[in-house]
Amino acid sequence: MVTGTTRVFCVLGHPVAHSVSPAMHNAALGELGLNGVYVAFDVAPESLSEAVRGLRALGVGGVNCTIPHKEALLPIVDRLSDDARLIGAVNTLVFTPTGIEGHNTDAPGFLAALRAAGGEPDGASAVVLGSGGSARAVVVALARRGARITLVNRTVGRARVLADHVNAAFPDVPVRVVESGSAAVAEAVRAARLLVNTTSVGMHPHEDELPELPLDAVHPGLFCFDLIYNPLETRLLREIRARGGRGSHGAGMLAHQGALALTLWTGHEAPAALMEQIVLQSLSR
Ligand SMILES: NC(=O)c1ccc[n+]([C@@H]2O[C@H](COP(=O)([O-])OP(=O)(O)OC[C@H]3O[C@@H](n4cnc5c(N)ncnc54)[C@H](OP(=O)(O)O)[C@@H]3O)[C@@H](O)[C@H]2O)c1
Repeated sequence: MVTGTTRVFCVLGHPVAHSVSPAMHNAALGELGLNGVYVAFDVAPESLSEAVRGLRALGVGGVNCTIPHKEALLPIVDRLSDDARLIGAVNTLVFTPTGIEGHNTDAPGFLAALRAAGGEPDGASAVVLGSGGSARAVVVALARRGARITLVNRTVGRARVLADHVNAAFPDVPVRVVESGSAAVAEAVRAARLLVNTTSVGMHPHEDELPELPLDAVHPGLFCFDLIYNPLETRLLREIRARGGRGSHGAGMLAHQGALALTLWTGHEAPAALMEQIVLQSLSR
């Protein structure tokens, strides 16, 4: 029941109508027995700064941010967490008496989801497909766990920029960039324990598409984490499983990044498994 002391939490996006965050966060708040409500606000880019200041003035309990606001928040917040600075994007705001903190829970959310699904990042040889926004969080997360990363992207220059950035922060295990479609990709996949798809190839409504990958290099020891969660079973996951490999969709990452944000706001350990269940239910509607 909403009362005079109900804390409000929200997600800012543009568009945001299809976000599953309200469903998963409201379920989690209920499970934790907290008097809170989580809503979605469609905020145009030109109103972002004003919206954030207004939410702080209103005493809102916490804010998530999604496309297209993640990078635009960097200059708006007063302090950045190490991950937000490294990844170059903010997905969670925490309002404190001394200012607005910008956090990024995508990297630890990815690691938690990967482990929960049976993948092991520590010291793994990993091939990461893509070099966009989500790849930054994935590569930072894997570099932190000492993974030996090979980065493959359609636009090779973008992969090089990401690799240089991460190598400056984690010089011990350098990220290697190989040309998409080259023999070096097949070699890297054969040697890999982990394959992470951070491209949008295969996402609804293009379910028939497959990221460029030498399928004959796929082996039963390969675990594929596909960040895509719509559809839950991408063509990539089907091709990996058909060759004896294992894999997971990205719904767990969505749930775990949300759970970590809720913990930052409330100090309570969030029910990540329940949140994932709600994500899956929302997606299958
Ligand atoms: N599970 C989660 O919690 C979660 C979180 C974030 C994102 N995601 C999913 O991850 C995917 C990527 O999101 P993002 O934010 O990283 O997007 P983004 O910043 O736009 O990056 C897209 C990436 O996909 C590549 N790409 C796009 N179309 C391609 C094509 N036709 N052929 C080859 N490569 C192509 C791009 O390559 P170029 O650099 O060459 O353009 C780039 O590397 C989306 O499906 C999104 O839903 C999931």
